[in-house]
Amino acid sequence: PEIGCLSIIVLGASGDLAKKKTFPALFHLYCQGFLPPDEVHIFGYARTKISDDELRNRIRGYLVSERSASPSEDVSKFLQLIKYVSGSYDAAEGFQLLDKEIAKHEISKNSQEGSSRRLFYLALPPSVYPPVCRMIRNNCMNKSDLGGWTRIIVEKPFGKDLGSAEELSSQIGELFDEPQIYRIDHYLGKELVQNLLVLRFANRFFLPLWNRDNIDNIQVSILLLQMFENHEVLWGREDFGTEGRGGYFDEYGIIRDIIQNHLLQVLCLVAMEKPVSLKPEHIRDEKVKVLQSVLPIKDEEVVLGQYEGYRDDPTVPDHSNTPTFATVILHIHNERWEGVPFILKAGKALNSRKAEIRVQFKDVPGDIFKSKKQGRNEFVIRLQPSEAMYMKLTVKQPGLEMSTRQSELDLSYRQRYQGVTIPEAYERLILDTIRGDQQHFVRRDELKAAWEIFTPLLHRIDDGEMKPIPYQPGSRGPAEADELLAKAGYVQTHGYIWIPPTL
Ligand code: BG6
Repeated sequence: PEIGCLSIIVLGASGDLAKKKTFPALFHLYCQGFLPPDEVHIFGYARTKISDDELRNRIRGYLVSERSASPSEDVSKFLQLIKYVSGSYDAAEGFQLLDKEIAKHEISKNSQEGSSRRLFYLALPPSVYPPVCRMIRNNCMNKSDLGGWTRIIVEKPFGKDLGSAEELSSQIGELFDEPQIYRIDHYLGKELVQNLLVLRFANRFFLPLWNRDNIDNIQVSILLLQMFENHEVLWGREDFGTEGRGGYFDEYGIIRDIIQNHLLQVLCLVAMEKPVSLKPEHIRDEKVKVLQSVLPIKDEEVVLGQYEGYRDDPTVPDHSNTPTFATVILHIHNERWEGVPFILKAGKALNSRKAEIRVQFKDVPGDIFKSKKQGRNEFVIRLQPSEAMYMKLTVKQPGLEMSTRQSELDLSYRQRYQGVTIPEAYERLILDTIRGDQQHFVRRDELKAAWEIFTPLLHRIDDGEMKPIPYQPGSRGPAEADELLAKAGYVQTHGYIWIPPTL
């Protein structure tokens, strides 16, 4: 481990993202001993003029932890590590003050001399990333002669299309080098997403089957019950006027909010070739190749939806054309995947909340059981809730008759790993940034390739050339989406429901 002190600076400290995600993640890391109090200091920075204690009080309520032995004591000790500095996002003064505060504690904690590490977490709307990065670059960089580093964490939305994303990337890129920039896609911090690499490349079972010869279609979906789950966080960062709740979403829509980032990242891990090694750059090289092999999206392979009532929200314009649901089929033009549709589906106000990967295999050739109606083999990775992997397979119906039925081999985490806590995505990702591991972060060329795929479609939607189909809130989304799935070759298994085992 590196010696010397670590300063974690949360910019936008009084905003929602900081309160609901960043500080709780830091707290959990603290409770597990990853942020030793004699090395670490945490700073909150925002425009609001409040005292240290006021910030602590605002955060306190979000720091619940079943994992900590003596919660209230831990909470108080953790909060004592936090200092608050107020200042604007585009003037040097505040950042000079911040730098002074950081340096003060670096001197006091570095009695035995060591490097200094500065981690800036931008819990801010992207519109202020460029000025804030400039301010950090000019005023707050690590200056220790003994080494150390300065790193920044940023999160989507990274632009609205290829052009704006590239502009943002080059603005930040002028100030920081790629190894200093950690672009969060929190899906990459989820346990079962992180498991994909192991699953695919450490198991003989999957190696020979994972291709166009055996797989008929692959679906990756994120379905949500509400318009705003507990994730207002991403648009209520601080009180930045127009970027209020519906305001944010309506400008972005479901494709930019979920599909272009979360679903595409998962798709990369499902589809990529085996990396040369586990080095972050090797893995990210393979992901980029997948993205670059995606063919242009065809209009007839897109179904957009908007739930009825969406426009009633006072922050949503009356004639909004923004999709709250989308099913999009991608095709990967390479030797492994030619002809296999990758169905990406995401939506709000649906009848269920879950995220999963569903790999559907082809029918058995020369079937002697006439078991087609039993359904196909499927390998399902349930990302959340009830993390699990299960393989749907056909077995003999137990009993005297020789008949077949659909069953499953089930690895349900709650049952198999009792007593093991699955860390929160943000917790893991922040720890990675401290350790300097960029594997689970989005590289600049990855981001660009992801925008290249969706930008033409997004522009057509923005121009009103493609319109979302209305659907009932609480439904499966527009019926046209199911029709598209069937056209793509997906066969739904009727009469089979996977039930997560209870303990
Ligand atoms: C966020 C989106 O990035 O991801 C939200 O902005 C969405 O709209 C959320 O609800 C889903 O994340 P999770 O972790 O709850 O599946």
